[in-house]
Amino acid sequence: MKLMTSPLIIRSASEMAAWRKSQSVFAKKIGFVPTMGALHQGHESLMKKSRELNELSVLSIFVNPTQFNDPSDFEKYPITWESDQKIAEKNKVDVVFVPTYFELYPDQYRYKISESELSLDLCGHNRPGHFDGVLTVVMKLLNLVRPHQAFFGEKDFQQLELIRGMARAFFLECEILAVPTLREFDGLAMSSRNTRLTEAERERAPLINHIISGATSAEEATRLLTEKKFKVDYLKDIGNRRFVAAHLGEVRLIDNVRI
Ligand code: PAF
Repeated sequence: MKLMTSPLIIRSASEMAAWRKSQSVFAKKIGFVPTMGALHQGHESLMKKSRELNELSVLSIFVNPTQFNDPSDFEKYPITWESDQKIAEKNKVDVVFVPTYFELYPDQYRYKISESELSLDLCGHNRPGHFDGVLTVVMKLLNLVRPHQAFFGEKDFQQLELIRGMARAFFLECEILAVPTLREFDGLAMSSRNTRLTEAERERAPLINHIISGATSAEEATRLLTEKKFKVDYLKDIGNRRFVAAHLGEVRLIDNVRI
């Protein structure tokens, strides 16, 4: 049994690398959950999986500016450090890595990882450079933490696929594991962005999931969402999954379901 102890907070890249090196002698299995904070139950399910399958768990919290192509979206990203710390402690995280931009990007983003097919579709289509930012920061974090396993949510399915592809392409030793999307009682996929919805928008938001799950085609789902005054960014069936991004007021929501 592990007693409730506060996680070790690490703020610099060199300290993170030193901690990881110090663990090598113990040969413990390390799980890693990269996040941008504003932690909710969806993140908790990743932390629980990491804890279950590993002897040590590392969580990172870093709102990564290079993946936001809209600066105002970056500025509005919720920061909830006090509650994030409590959630990390409750989920028996051993280390919380909270780097600054300058710690993670000493090169000022001169070097980046990019993918040239899947990253240009869906969430990459109207957000040029978004996945370059995601892949680059994930690679940096994986190189510092050097976990045996890293956990990503299926809500960001395209991100998950791209990270899996990157791990294969660069022969990373880390195993990339997927965790199913956690939903609110009414079907809305849990997301840090949900806190930015007004009360009226929050009531309408579950329609995204209901419509993409129930419609017989992507075209029908697009029509139904548009009728309900969502501004659809994309809605596409790829393989056995249906993917959507739609704006509700100022908030861009994404979801995907098996079809
Ligand atoms: O899914 C997220 O929260 C972010 O895209 C990630 C993987 C932490 C990279 O910044």
